[in-house]
Amino acid sequence: MKKILVIGGGAMGSAFTVPCLDNGNSVTITEPYSKRFIKNLSSKNKFHSALKINLPKKLKFKIFSNVLFNEKFDLIVIALSLSGIDFIGKELKKYKIKTPILVLTKGLKYEKKSKKIFTISEKLKKDYKLKNISILKGPCLAKELARKNQTNVIIANRNIDIAKEIGKIISTKYYLTEFSNDIVGIEVCSAIKNIYAMIIGAGQSFNASSNLFQKSVIEMKYLTKFFKGKDETILGLAGVGDLFVSAAGGRNSKMGSYLGKGFTFKTAKKKFMPNDTVEGEQLAREIAPFILKKVNKNKVPMMINLLRTIINNKKLKIKV
Ligand SMILES: NC(=O)c1ccc[n+]([C@@H]2O[C@H](COP(=O)([O-])OP(=O)(O)OC[C@H]3O[C@@H](n4cnc5c(N)ncnc54)[C@H](O)[C@@H]3O)[C@@H](O)[C@H]2O)c1
Repeated sequence: MKKILVIGGGAMGSAFTVPCLDNGNSVTITEPYSKRFIKNLSSKNKFHSALKINLPKKLKFKIFSNVLFNEKFDLIVIALSLSGIDFIGKELKKYKIKTPILVLTKGLKYEKKSKKIFTISEKLKKDYKLKNISILKGPCLAKELARKNQTNVIIANRNIDIAKEIGKIISTKYYLTEFSNDIVGIEVCSAIKNIYAMIIGAGQSFNASSNLFQKSVIEMKYLTKFFKGKDETILGLAGVGDLFVSAAGGRNSKMGSYLGKGFTFKTAKKKFMPNDTVEGEQLAREIAPFILKKVNKNKVPMMINLLRTIINNKKLKIKV
């Protein structure tokens, strides 16, 4: 039995506690940001408003504070949105945390000063001096995981034995783990697939979407290699696996469907998805300054098109 702390009581952080508990671990969850999730997790029946289920009784909830880090954990899991990464980096640095870290968050960070793009694990290592970081990505929908439907994910660490150790701690017969040492490739794929899910969502028929799907894979391959990820990662769970799930259903492909119908991003957001976070949009804004300047536009025409559509709030012009 290991002691696991999950930071982030949103859909994914909360769902992730389910296999961890089923595998016999002692699991504590904390929520540093959202009043709604704090209310959910501290309530008697632990009903989670995003997952629409009661979380297991064995799950412990603790307020996010310095007292929390007096306790010794074997694994700290970060399940915040991309916008919470700098916050948690600062906090963990402040408390001089040496515990192994597992990052579930998907996304990339653009650093204005150096004009470079960093993966989340690179950022946590570089800016907040955190060590021993592994990542977990792949085609896993929080709602399905919380209901114990079978999901396959991939854990990466430069030292693959550490990834395998984490796999032993968290996997169950419905939460199956693969392993890799291609951290960069997996982080890049799992981030940019949100943008390609929007593009595929813009196809107005299955035929059009399948065409956009195969073109997306070609662009993802180029970008993953551009950032020095491995070829095999694109065809794996964090690449086409996750792209399939995100394109088949989810907030990014839903937004894409409105863009495909000729709405601008702002209109579609206001009219149809006012309370939804569209991660692909957040990532588009984050990486646009780099991609539009540094990447060969002929190699990733759909990505360039989508970035301009969002940044300039124009209609999407993708040839299907
Ligand atoms: N939902 C899924 O199926 C799923 C699956 C795999 C990975 N993920 C990844 O997990 C991450 C979280 O996704 P989610 O679905 O749980 O989202 P969510 O919106 O349900 O939860 C977001 C979490 O981030 C926190 N947060 C948001 N803004 C913050 C800020 N500025 N500072 C600090 N904390 C902040 C929230 O309080 C909450 O804990 C995302 O990066 C997502 O890509 C999600």
